Amino acid sequence: MEFEQAVNNLNKNGYLNLDLPKKLDFAAEIKKLKKEKNAVILAHYYQEPAIQDIADFVGDSLQLSYKAAEVDADLIVFAGVHFMAETAKILNPTKKVLLPDLNAGCSLAEACEAKDLKVFKEKNPDHLVVSYVNTSAEVKALSDICCTSSNAKKIIDSIPLDKPIIFAPDKNLGAYINKETGRNMLLWEGACIVHEAFSIDKLITTHKAHPKAKIIAHPESEEHILKTAEYIGSTSGLINYAKTSPATEFIVATEAGILHEMQKEVPNKTLYPAPAVEDNTCACSECPYMKMNTMEKLYLCMKYELPEIHVPEDIQKQALIPIQRMLDISSK
Ligand code: 13P
Ligand code: SF4
Repeated sequence: MEFEQAVNNLNKNGYLNLDLPKKLDFAAEIKKLKKEKNAVILAHYYQEPAIQDIADFVGDSLQLSYKAAEVDADLIVFAGVHFMAETAKILNPTKKVLLPDLNAGCSLAEACEAKDLKVFKEKNPDHLVVSYVNTSAEVKALSDICCTSSNAKKIIDSIPLDKPIIFAPDKNLGAYINKETGRNMLLWEGACIVHEAFSIDKLITTHKAHPKAKIIAHPESEEHILKTAEYIGSTSGLINYAKTSPATEFIVATEAGILHEMQKEVPNKTLYPAPAVEDNTCACSECPYMKMNTMEKLYLCMKYELPEIHVPEDIQKQALIPIQRMLDISSK
């Protein structure tokens, strides 16, 4: 009965929303469930601090993909967004993969539907399709190679110069890679709502207030933001730069969740989140999708083993090819 209730609840909401005893210690309960169910929690740097702290592994999109592929536990609980959990399922299809909230999408993945990419491919039949991992399994199945922000340059450099490329769906990352590699890839019109919300005026004001601070930015940011940056890189690249740079102050232009791990790594340095424009629905630099996961949802998801990620077998097999190509090139 309890399980049935959970399923009905899930069908209505996309996540479990059940009455729980007050004062439940989620961290303790999640630890117990991890042991009982032989589960591994993989979390992205944009997750809330409590989730990062309870996870078995925290990383960027690429590191999480490598980790998901090698998990030997029975359950993979993905504290991230839908495309990440789906990638884990594609890489390790015999495991049960859970995502605390099925609504945790991504504006980039939403910007590129498989049916539209198919039409675009047909119009450009000589082009190779490189898709950012921030896409659905169906879009990956239509792609030749995947990439993440940490390996995008390496992936593009691995393709012969005379081969034309469609790069989807992040136009900002694509434009940055075009500049870095001297290519002229056809760019899909997608963007990340979080990285497009940074305000250049406020960034300049913040920098004036902290002139010694180095601006570091994620390549999903727009060109005018990237132009101000001392370093551009993936989430793990940004953390590593803060660690290894002799500078002691940084203005960090990416989702604010990264500050938790970054500050742990550089306890004696000062970090300022890059400011976002105010009159935006996303008035801070927090990803509304990433932040859909909560400790309560994580607990319920592990207790009932719901919601589970399913990928049709034909799509799983086809999508694995570009992901595996990416992992192979990346590890060279
Ligand atoms: P990375 O962690 O690969 O830098 O990607 C950031 C991101 O867009 C996650 O949504
Ligand atoms: Fe997607 Fe941007 Fe959120 Fe990452 S931060 S999940 S790219 S919307």
